[in-house]
Amino acid sequence: MKIIVAKDYDEMSAKAAELFIDRINKKNDLVLGLATGTTPLGLYKNLADAYKAGKVDFSKVSSFNLDEYVGVGHDNENGYYYFMYHNLFKHINIDLNNVRVENGLAEDLEAECEDYSNSIKAKGGIDLQLLGIGHDGHIGFNEPSSVFSKGTHVEELTQMTIEANSRLFNDISEVPTRALTMGVGDIFAAKEICMLVNGKGKAEILKKCLYGDIDPMVQASILQLHGNVTVICDAEAAELL
Ligand code: PGA
Repeated sequence: MKIIVAKDYDEMSAKAAELFIDRINKKNDLVLGLATGTTPLGLYKNLADAYKAGKVDFSKVSSFNLDEYVGVGHDNENGYYYFMYHNLFKHINIDLNNVRVENGLAEDLEAECEDYSNSIKAKGGIDLQLLGIGHDGHIGFNEPSSVFSKGTHVEELTQMTIEANSRLFNDISEVPTRALTMGVGDIFAAKEICMLVNGKGKAEILKKCLYGDIDPMVQASILQLHGNVTVICDAEAAELL
């Protein structure tokens, strides 16, 4: 595992963008795994700027997002398709036919999940997976559990996650309690993983993830076993390493 400590959020985002641009320039039909949340916003801004400056071409790139809330559609401003469209997709030349975010409105959620995992496999798997980490060690919405999940599935969100995400809603009662998420198996099958972590509040969980036991109570700890992971964090998140 490679750990890069950047001085601050902006440097973390710039270093992550360098990695993404390098991989897309080496393989123009790269399959990306993408993440939402506050952490990747700087990376997405850098990628949009690099596209405008002619430094990267997304026309053949495809992507799968980690997760989406159950009951939330593509045009819902609290949803993750909406997030991706407004923070990245509309600023670059990615073909919207090649991007996928789980359908939170699917009538048959299980069928949607199975199709999602199968579609990733049909694309040849994810080349480069972006991750953030939750305060409880989740990746995607894979919450602390007695097992590591395999494929895309419906997850009940923990109170900690609901509280953390409530900052983006008018009221905590509006935060969905379930989400569709890629499984840890889907994530682990990615050829390369880049995890971004910033801020003091993530220092404790980052230490557990990198140096603690490999334990499904800290789902991100499984990354210790993956052969091609780069963690890019800022100095605050690295404080306890
Ligand atoms: P954040 O979320 O980037 O908003 O901190 C990360 C996560 O919960 O995975």
